Amino acid sequence: MEQVKEQFKASLASALPGQDIALERPRSWEHGDLAFPCFRAAKALGVPPPKLAQDLAARMTIDGGELVAAGPYLNLRLQPEARARVLLEALLGPTPFGSAPDHDEAVLVEYSSPNIAKLFTIGHLRSTMIGHALAQVNRYLGCRVQRLNHLGDWGTQFGTLLAAYKRWAEAENPALDQDFPWAEEIPERRRNPLFRLFQLYVRFHQEEEQDPAMRDEARAWFRRLEEGDSEARRLWSWFREISLAEFHRIYARLGVAFDALDGEAFYEDRLAAAVAKLETSGLLEEGEGGARIVRLEDAGIQTPCIVLKADGTSIYATRDLAAALYRQETYAFDRCLYVVGSDQVLHFQQLFAVLNKLDPWFQGRMVHAPFGMVKLPEGKMSTRKGNVVFLEDVLDEAVTRVRAIIEEKNPDLPSKERVAEQLGLGAVVFFDALNDRVKPITFAWDRVIALDGDTGPYVQYAHARICSVLRKAGEAWAQAVRLAAPAGPEVAALTFHLATVPDELPGLDEPAAQSLLFELAGLPDALRNAQREHMATPLARQLLAIAKTFSGFYTQCPILKPDIEAPVRDARLALCAATARALRQGLFLMGIQAPEEM
Ligand code: ARG
Repeated sequence: MEQVKEQFKASLASALPGQDIALERPRSWEHGDLAFPCFRAAKALGVPPPKLAQDLAARMTIDGGELVAAGPYLNLRLQPEARARVLLEALLGPTPFGSAPDHDEAVLVEYSSPNIAKLFTIGHLRSTMIGHALAQVNRYLGCRVQRLNHLGDWGTQFGTLLAAYKRWAEAENPALDQDFPWAEEIPERRRNPLFRLFQLYVRFHQEEEQDPAMRDEARAWFRRLEEGDSEARRLWSWFREISLAEFHRIYARLGVAFDALDGEAFYEDRLAAAVAKLETSGLLEEGEGGARIVRLEDAGIQTPCIVLKADGTSIYATRDLAAALYRQETYAFDRCLYVVGSDQVLHFQQLFAVLNKLDPWFQGRMVHAPFGMVKLPEGKMSTRKGNVVFLEDVLDEAVTRVRAIIEEKNPDLPSKERVAEQLGLGAVVFFDALNDRVKPITFAWDRVIALDGDTGPYVQYAHARICSVLRKAGEAWAQAVRLAAPAGPEVAALTFHLATVPDELPGLDEPAAQSLLFELAGLPDALRNAQREHMATPLARQLLAIAKTFSGFYTQCPILKPDIEAPVRDARLALCAATARALRQGLFLMGIQAPEEM
């Protein structure tokens, strides 16, 4: 399709010299494959857009297609056979469909970034999986990607943890390997030190409400930590270790990985230099109560950015400033995406404004991709209060439901456990991606782990069904779909060599086949949109559209029936293989596995 696009653009460019040529995708294949909206060019030429569309339709020609004026649009409509050939060749060729060649554009994607000593909640899924998809998509589109995790391993909450540990654990439960007699009983799989740290944290916050003096205790511990007190450091690094072990287990389950896990603590010894830089640039001022601040009114932000508190200690923003300067030096990036919840919009506005003042180099390079928070029906989740939904519970529940369905419908399925895991995770991850990135989500079990309707398993099912058709079609076809399963988090070039697209492509003229081809053709745009809008939603939607039109094709166009002639069968099988490949690749970019049988 890229070639057709280029050809169409080139002939438009010569018909309309000096005009900006931007193409769109019509809403349905009946309108055509590509549309040129005539509004702007018509305005420049002083003619009504429909008139320009008609003139162009009469004047231009494109091989294999016709040009049709539809109101203010000039549509290019390929002939059914040409459409099939163009797409099958692109989809079954050696280059992954819709990918772009490697080029020199460095993109940093910072995502997940959980706080140490807290547990992974359903809220963390958004940053983790949106970020993962953005890293994958940008890499697929040829960018050099670095996946960063800005672990929350520093800050006053460590004072809280240290104080709580000292009060209620050190004497009786120093290794955190026993359940606390004062805490509610915990289920088997939570009997781990990290969960007990979480219980300490919650208890401290509860009691501190009655006894505000405890706050000073926590502050004092954080000060000791900042000053390098050896006991505080030892406990801190142990808390960090316990947490990381848990996080890595969850990342492995989700198939997510990072190139750098430099947490907030990593920037501790870079803070002074960052502050000095602000100082020499004359940006630091004295704020309320003696804090050091940067005023941002001239950038349209009324709240100044606090860089140092009155007592001279650093805060979250200080560490983010140091991190940005470090990344500038280390990665010389073109874009740095922060996939962080929308409750931090102001923080990033301030951060970026300060950086722009400090060095215009940052201008336009820093992007906050905020996402709507996951809320519980009863309100915001809060680790402090202990009312959270743990991600693992959600994943496990989804897998359990899938397992029950498999037991009922397909008890002889090989590798049942693996398939249940892939589908359960597929449901949760796809649900999250399908939700618009920006809107808040109200968590409801039945929606998050739904298996019917517009879900991950629906797309996975379309893929598995195709694999089954191809297996029945014979060994050569089965080989074609046995893609090198992408292992691990890397965007593997899928080695999928369907030798050649058949010379003749009868059997694909039916509307059902044509509309499937049209949706497949939408994949490259969906990838570009995901990249531009910093969210996986366009990709998820396109995969659903492909899976749905495949289902229409499969019902309308018989493939393996005995009365179907060989050339028709082969053309349809080729379309099946192309669809399987597109679905598999697309799901993979989103971090979802596609089983071949289910
Ligand atoms: N750890 C923070 C949190 O859980 C998110 C960090 C976001 N990244 C950043 N560079 N500030 O809220």
